[in-house]
Amino acid sequence: MQIVVTGAAGLLGSNVVSVGNDRGHDVVGTYHSTKPSFEVPLYELDICDTDRFRELLDEHEPAVVINCAAMTDVDGCESASSAASEVNGEAPGELAAACEEHDVDFVHVSTDYVFDGTKTEPHTESDEPSPVQEYGASKLDGEQAVQSSHSNPLIARLSFVYGIDRSTGELTGFPAWVRGRLEDGEETPLFVDQHVTPSRAGSTAETLVDAVENDSSGLFHVASRSCVTPYEFGEQVCALMDASDALLQEGSQAALDRPATRPEYTCLDVSKIEEELGRTQPTLSEDLAAIADAF
Ligand SMILES: NC(=O)c1ccc[n+]([C@@H]2O[C@H](COP(=O)([O-])OP(=O)(O)OC[C@H]3O[C@@H](n4cnc5c(N)ncnc54)[C@H](OP(=O)(O)O)[C@@H]3O)[C@@H](O)[C@H]2O)c1
Repeated sequence: MQIVVTGAAGLLGSNVVSVGNDRGHDVVGTYHSTKPSFEVPLYELDICDTDRFRELLDEHEPAVVINCAAMTDVDGCESASSAASEVNGEAPGELAAACEEHDVDFVHVSTDYVFDGTKTEPHTESDEPSPVQEYGASKLDGEQAVQSSHSNPLIARLSFVYGIDRSTGELTGFPAWVRGRLEDGEETPLFVDQHVTPSRAGSTAETLVDAVENDSSGLFHVASRSCVTPYEFGEQVCALMDASDALLQEGSQAALDRPATRPEYTCLDVSKIEEELGRTQPTLSEDLAAIADAF
């Protein structure tokens, strides 16, 4: 199958390229500012440039486009809300519309930050979104734009993405930060007032490609089965490194003054995607074990 991956230089995008390639699909990647090092056709593309995107569809005639491109800096979106709205809110709808016209399937990636964090049990796909910062609001706009522009899109909401960047080979995201601090012997404050279901980029990419191969469509939560605080996540990193957890300190995100408000509880219920694919999503321990070499 021919697959176009937008945002191929990003953490998730690099994993989708890698999984697609490993499974024998013909993968084409697009990147924004940095060209990734993959042996697949690569094109520079700003996803707001719909004309260029249509040219790529004409040239490659893919079966599916998987949109992993987004403005992901939550505080950055707060101060650049019109750019966030353009990239995260409007462009996905334009990409989806172009795919609909070309009879191409469309997969779009969204976020647990569409929720306001007031619930205390994992969110299902039928829970009402209510974002509390520009990033979440722009991503919710993107979901809605995709839904109204394409007849059968697949939209996957992820949570707290981390993993191995398959272009650079580097561990990326929260566990890389924790690993670095522990290696340097630095005290490491980790939030106990944030709850997430960490999504490893590698297993998420496997799930997305599984869903494409399964011809799935609809809205799905794609994350691990483990609802944890960053402190609990840090404890698992410590154990993998065989390091003392004496350096871990309980921290509070409420005590931090950051431009964007963060929700307290955005764990995702993954039972719908599990039922769709007939298998379970990984736990955080299983996900970390899969990349244990990085620790
Ligand atoms: N990271 C998380 O914790 C998290 C949590 C939940 C959901 N998500 C969602 O998961 C998806 C993938 O995120 P990620 O973690 O892989 O983020 P990432 O590593 O920041 O990748 C995003 C990619 O999008 C590219 N991009 C930004 N603006 C673009 C534009 N105008 N045109 C084309 N490409 C553009 C970036 O390229 P440049 O850097 O060159 O601009 C980057 O390579 C996103 O939809 C995100 O909202 C992420």
